Amino acid sequence: MLSLRNISKSFIQRGLVLDNLSLDVSAGDTLAIMGPSGSGKTTLMNIIGLLEKPDSGMITFLGNDIRNYNDDESALYRSSNIGFVFQDHLLLPHLTVRENILLPILALKQSRAEAQMKEEEAFTLMRKTGISELSAKYPGTISGGEAQRAALVRALVNKPSILLADEPTGSLDADNAEIMGELLSEMNSELGITLILATHSDKLAGKMARTMILGHGKLI
Ligand SMILES: Nc1ncnc2c1ncn2[C@@H]1O[C@H](COP(=O)(O)OP(=O)(O)OP(=O)(O)O)[C@@H](O)[C@H]1O
Ligand SMILES: [Mg+2]
Repeated sequence: MLSLRNISKSFIQRGLVLDNLSLDVSAGDTLAIMGPSGSGKTTLMNIIGLLEKPDSGMITFLGNDIRNYNDDESALYRSSNIGFVFQDHLLLPHLTVRENILLPILALKQSRAEAQMKEEEAFTLMRKTGISELSAKYPGTISGGEAQRAALVRALVNKPSILLADEPTGSLDADNAEIMGELLSEMNSELGITLILATHSDKLAGKMARTMILGHGKLI
């Protein structure tokens, strides 16, 4: 489904972060990307989500070359295919939990009926993740674990084929990390969503079918 070929990326201050990296992900795959802090995990996720451009290499999604998409094409690719749970900036502080979650629905051109159906599905997911009582609250007044679950629901409202989750259990205690891990696995087994996670947690990585280590710009 997704294929990266000979992707390189460097930053002026840092030098080469990704060095001729290649990766193939099939539909329904679950992949954990591990590796030390600064090894380039977030950079790689941003490149897959077209938030950042590689210096060289090729990216194809469902057979389409997506590397040279312009901003509009990239935005459409993201909103129709990719769900993101970011490492930081989980939720927008001046919007309620409900508004945060429904934000991606507004970004797509769709009928009122379609939007309404997605809104109902979002509430189902909120109930499933135990945050339905938090709809009207602002992010500053909920816990880190609750914010992480809300960010997960937001990433899922447009039914992405791929969920990119960067340290989804980073700020969670052991119990909440376990719940998040189970939720992610369920999203894969029940909804067929392909998972690509960056994580420092062996436990979370253990729930994925594959684990790859990023080091010296390569995935092994
Ligand atoms: N926009 C940027 N400009 C300059 N350097 C950057 C930029 N983004 C990332 N880097 C550098 O690239 C390297 C890889 O960063 P990245 O955030 O991808 O690492 P990571 O593996 O996600 O680390 P962590 O486990 O701490 O989240 C780091 O040395 C970082 O400082
Ligand atoms: Mg990172």
